[in-house]
Amino acid sequence: MEKTWQLALLKWYRENKRDLPWRRSRDPYAIWVSEIMLQQTRVDTVIPYYQRFLALFPDMKALAGAPIEKVYKAWEGLGYYSRARNLQRGAQTVLERFDGAMPREAALLQKIPGIGEYTAGAISSIAFDQPACAVDGNVMRVGARLYGDGQDIALPATKKYWQKEALGWIPQGQAGDFNQALMELGALICLPRGAKCAACPVKEWCRAFENGQVEALPVKSAK
Ligand code: ADE
Repeated sequence: MEKTWQLALLKWYRENKRDLPWRRSRDPYAIWVSEIMLQQTRVDTVIPYYQRFLALFPDMKALAGAPIEKVYKAWEGLGYYSRARNLQRGAQTVLERFDGAMPREAALLQKIPGIGEYTAGAISSIAFDQPACAVDGNVMRVGARLYGDGQDIALPATKKYWQKEALGWIPQGQAGDFNQALMELGALICLPRGAKCAACPVKEWCRAFENGQVEALPVKSAK
């Protein structure tokens, strides 16, 4: 067995990642917009909205000073309109409280309206390569299968557990690509049902694959 699953995953990501518009940017504002849109909306739906939104509001100042009706109009069809309102409030917050510069640390990012734990970790790692994790159901599913872990992912304590684990997985200086590689694996290969294990870059390390438990994991109780 070669190296570690983390490095095998990174290599796979770099060779196979989807060419998504926000992956062409290192602008923290653009990455922020993409992460807010992706919170409740599928990638394919987000793409045209993301492109139009950035054309209309190319930077934080443009968004902060826009009439809210214009912001809602750009969001029309995406749903969850509080995301649009918070994004504008967030832009105003960054201008007023952070002198127009997005904070780099996840803990500071969480002080901005609309940015929770997951989004803070995503922005901090993707835009700044800071060692932060971004753990959602997809990442917990990948972790539960890789390690053959039967903890109930519906429990807050289990999320805490995986956040700590995921922080330890990050290859030095490559947090952005690594976190997106985990997201990509969860989206394309390690699917909730019908996982494509034959195509998985980390199957040699996967306990669930080894033990025939892929479909049985993760454990998720009804909340
Ligand atoms: N879902 C949430 N963040 C994402 C990203 N950066 N790329 C693809 N899917 C995502």
